[in-house]
Amino acid sequence: MKKLKIAIDGPAGSGKSTVAKRVAEALNYIYVDTGAMYRAVTLAALRKGVSMDDGEGLTELSAGIQLEFRPAEEGKGYRLYMDGEDVHEEIRSLEVTNNVSFVAAVAGVRRNLVRLQQSLTSGGGVVMEGRDIGTVVMPDAEVKVFLTASVAARTRRRLLELQAKGIMVNEEELQASIIRRDAIDSGREVDPLRPAPDSFELDTTELNIDQVVERILALALAKGARLDQ
Ligand code: CDP
Repeated sequence: MKKLKIAIDGPAGSGKSTVAKRVAEALNYIYVDTGAMYRAVTLAALRKGVSMDDGEGLTELSAGIQLEFRPAEEGKGYRLYMDGEDVHEEIRSLEVTNNVSFVAAVAGVRRNLVRLQQSLTSGGGVVMEGRDIGTVVMPDAEVKVFLTASVAARTRRRLLELQAKGIMVNEEELQASIIRRDAIDSGREVDPLRPAPDSFELDTTELNIDQVVERILALALAKGARLDQ
């Protein structure tokens, strides 16, 4: 049976994580959230007081921490561990979110994390999501999807996600922070957020999760993947 590499890229709130997890489950592939790794380096920098404009310090930090995805105790999905500590909750904090794009713009940090990400893809059977997966991390992926949605739709989704966790935020501020992060991610010199030339672009503004998952699975099946029985 053919085990594919599936790359899912897109801006904040485009639905990558939810969709990538569901596609991985349906195919019984591993799921890798590369954003979590950039977030972990950011958390380490905040804890150690490394400045967000200290490229060398951030690069050194990213080389020195051990990152590992371990199966969640409740039996579904994976959680990111940093130096043996479960950080999956803390890496979603507002402080990490507001700083991560600066860390992710550092060439040395990217070099270290991309190497780690590529080590997880050998043999295929992987759904990886991020910003540069189809362009840099897995340019050989058989399926490349670039998800987009209007800023308003992406803000609304993030708002609901945060509300479900009991976190109340101001909608305007949230939208401004999404726009700011998109601008840094798309405008940076190293591996900016952009669709791979051979990617399938999908505007999810008017689509629900099931519809997006279905379309990606259809692409994977057409390339020879099989649904997990
Ligand atoms: O889930 P959300 O869209 O908020 O973000 P994420 O996927 O957790 O990624 C957080 C940040 O990490 C992004 O805004 C990018 O700055 C960076 N990132 C990146 O540069 N390259 C990747 N492959 C993944 C994330």
